[in-house]
Amino acid sequence: MAHIQIIIGSTRPGRVAKKITDWYMGKLELPAGSTIELVDLQDINLPFLDEAMPASMGQYQNEHTKKFAELIAKADGYIWVTPEYNHAPSPVLLNAISFLKNEWQYKPVAFVGYGAVGAARAIEHLVSVSSELQMVPLRERVWVNEPWANVTEAGEVTDFRGEPTGQVTELIRWANATKSLRS
Ligand SMILES: Cc1cc2nc3c(=O)[nH]c(=O)nc-3n(C[C@H](O)[C@H](O)[C@H](O)COP(=O)(O)O)c2cc1C
Repeated sequence: MAHIQIIIGSTRPGRVAKKITDWYMGKLELPAGSTIELVDLQDINLPFLDEAMPASMGQYQNEHTKKFAELIAKADGYIWVTPEYNHAPSPVLLNAISFLKNEWQYKPVAFVGYGAVGAARAIEHLVSVSSELQMVPLRERVWVNEPWANVTEAGEVTDFRGEPTGQVTELIRWANATKSLRS
């Protein structure tokens, strides 16, 4: 049905991002026929944006950009997992997003945020970014509130809103509905 990528938006030593992503994946019952792939920006290890041309031109010069573009192009939709730094998404996630354009275009994106008030301010920022990329930002969110108090050492999450399976089900609906725009 659809191939989804879940992108971990923090590379900080001691990050809570991986625990939250693992928790989300553990709760998710993936609709039959669909696939989900973990994209960890820590492994991708992109530099600060170093392409001479704007991503919208699609003229990537660097091997790391071409490789990242090939990976991201494979998906029909995305889940961006973001912390909130200074009421904004993580710089590492925004940097990765900025490397590409056409690979994101005409695809839906769902948001998982964690922070005070579930990183709601960072998510609203990403809604605006995704809209400029001509993506479809989903209304269905998953928020983890105050992760410093509500994510245990073992990775259990004790205060959250939203529901991973419902969110991904809606993401797949949009991924299928937008397929004709991408052909
Ligand atoms: C630079 C920086 C700025 C932060 N600003 C906020 C903020 O504006 N709102 C918030 O709820 N938490 C803020 N925090 C706390 C983070 O929510 C918390 O450190 C969280 O664990 C970060 O995610 P990570 O561990 O996956 O990187 C900030 C943390 C850092 C490092």
